Amino acid sequence: MVREDGADNIGSDKIVGKPILRKAKRVRRVQMKKSASEPHTVAEAEAKKMRAVNPAQYYRQNLGQLGFGDPEHALVQTIKELVDNSLDAAEAMGVLPEVTVTLTATEKEYEVITNRVKDGGIRKFPIFKISVEDNGCGVVRSKVAKAFGKVLYGSKFFSFKQSRGQQGLGVHAAIIYAQLTSLEPAVITTKTETDERAYRVVLKIDTEQNKPVVISSEEVPFNRPHGTRVELMVAGDYTKKVESFIKELSLANPHAELKFILKPTINGEERVVHYPRATETLPPQPKEIKPHILSMEPGALLEMISNDRCCKDAKQFLVKHFVRISEAKALQLLSAAKIPSSLPPKEIDIEALLKAAKEVDIMRPPLDVLSPIGEEALRQSLRRIYPDAEFIEATSREPWSYRGIPFQVEVAVAYGGASVANDCETVRPGVFKAKVIRLGNKCPLIYDSKDCLLYKTVKEINWRNYKLPQEEGTLPLAPMVIVVSLISTKVPYTVPGKFAVAYHDEIHEQLKLALQALGRMIHSYVTHRQKQEHERHRQSIFQIYAKEIARDLSLLSGVSQEEIFEKLMETVKIKTRPPEKRTPQQQEVQKPKGVPVEGIPAKLPPQDRKLRERSQHTLDAFIW
Ligand SMILES: Nc1ncnc2c1ncn2[C@@H]1O[C@H](COP(=O)(O)OP(=O)(O)OP(=O)(O)O)[C@@H](O)[C@H]1O
Ligand SMILES: [Mg+2]
Repeated sequence: MVREDGADNIGSDKIVGKPILRKAKRVRRVQMKKSASEPHTVAEAEAKKMRAVNPAQYYRQNLGQLGFGDPEHALVQTIKELVDNSLDAAEAMGVLPEVTVTLTATEKEYEVITNRVKDGGIRKFPIFKISVEDNGCGVVRSKVAKAFGKVLYGSKFFSFKQSRGQQGLGVHAAIIYAQLTSLEPAVITTKTETDERAYRVVLKIDTEQNKPVVISSEEVPFNRPHGTRVELMVAGDYTKKVESFIKELSLANPHAELKFILKPTINGEERVVHYPRATETLPPQPKEIKPHILSMEPGALLEMISNDRCCKDAKQFLVKHFVRISEAKALQLLSAAKIPSSLPPKEIDIEALLKAAKEVDIMRPPLDVLSPIGEEALRQSLRRIYPDAEFIEATSREPWSYRGIPFQVEVAVAYGGASVANDCETVRPGVFKAKVIRLGNKCPLIYDSKDCLLYKTVKEINWRNYKLPQEEGTLPLAPMVIVVSLISTKVPYTVPGKFAVAYHDEIHEQLKLALQALGRMIHSYVTHRQKQEHERHRQSIFQIYAKEIARDLSLLSGVSQEEIFEKLMETVKIKTRPPEKRTPQQQEVQKPKGVPVEGIPAKLPPQDRKLRERSQHTLDAFIW
């Protein structure tokens, strides 16, 4: 309230009277209240913005960490996540997997603003309908909504058992990506062996609440006794990566029947890529184990202790929760840590316990809990994919453990032949760089190879020791596909998207030994071929003289020239033997297929050494 002369008259009873005064006080009180609730400092302003972030919100904003950062990666990653789950579900059931993947381009498009395209800066990607159907165990009805609609919800995270899935993230990330790019929900049809009919659920994920939103559910027929079909609409960029992923997937799972029905463009032809299984033998079932105390971080152990409700003392706690801890071992461990065995678990000195665990001799975790691909299965798989490869071999190491977690490495090679060369990078005409296929629990790892221990270890090997050309710190320059497979109850990936394996000394060491063993196999094959070539060369020279000698002898003796020639040639039959077997694992070397070697001179004159580069796509180029 302002007086005519401009002076503030609030507070002057004489002029404004009591009702006005009360009103003014009320206004001041409201103003004071308001200013009390407004932040006075930056910290207070920040505090006002604070709220809990749920995993669905987090991953919606960081889909790149899970392989859904852009349409190219996302298309491959969607197939990978769905097929991984299918293979896991079939193996959990103990049946040979049968998986059908259908990928069809639709007319719908997804537009992104980009700097890569000049006209308007908008790039369009087709929306693909992807359906993956399996003969796995299915999902019980009461769990379907959460298994597919709640991020970080799944059956594998808490089990110490080898499986492709580990986190409870994969299919959820694919569903979030699908609903972000196509606005379409996921359709899940699933049937367990005891269900009469399948259960079909259409759902979306409410990322604000991290919970499923079921749009509809009904009973439907299903053409398998048990299994699951997941259908998604996702924006994608169909590149060569899709096809190479499919190939690597079948390589890693020779016991699986994989069928891909692909229609990457609306007007294009539908193509069926079928990989019948290379072996009818189901790999051994992986076994579930308890964690090893050496694999525990102090914080994780503390949490385990605080959540324990069933153990009355420290001894019981150790025996119940950890592998390889018998009652006697628990007592030994506790006495080394100076912890009374009757102490309640909550009072355990964690640091002392973990220190003692490193000093006391605790057995490694049982190593027969893993399910490797198998050397023979790897060979069969490679032969199926590279039928004209000259040389195919596989070898593996015994299971080992890193930080108390069991793992095993297997390696294989396919060398030479046009199909192998086609898969390798051409460095210059006729010169190829080896390709590395990385597998983590039988899943191909297709991105971030440079950060991956498996890839880095292959590069680190001195392949020149095994008669293969190699430039310093690079992959060998040879038409060769090297398969490196790591299996474990927990593969140490660098990021949740499972692109690359993190460094661990023990894995590195085992991998190096396996690759060196593979190198020796290549070396002995190369040596064998060298000898063979020398022999052929010797024969070819002898042949020239033998013809003349046979003619002269025939004139002198009257015996037919052909007969003499044949006898002479018999005396120089090939004397080379196949390479020796070095270890029981080093199987018989494959006979070279489809590579004409006759007539190639054993030693090239220096000026002809360039020929090596031209014919490098067979092994012959390296055997001089
Ligand atoms: N095809 C399927 N058959 C049976 N169960 C499935 C199938 N797909 C998903 N599930 C169930 O849904 C859960 C969640 O799957 P999701 O892919 O998100 O996580 P995960 O496979 O456990 O781990 P990861 O994040 O490493 O993939 C799985 O743990 C599994 O129990
Ligand atoms: Mg999964």
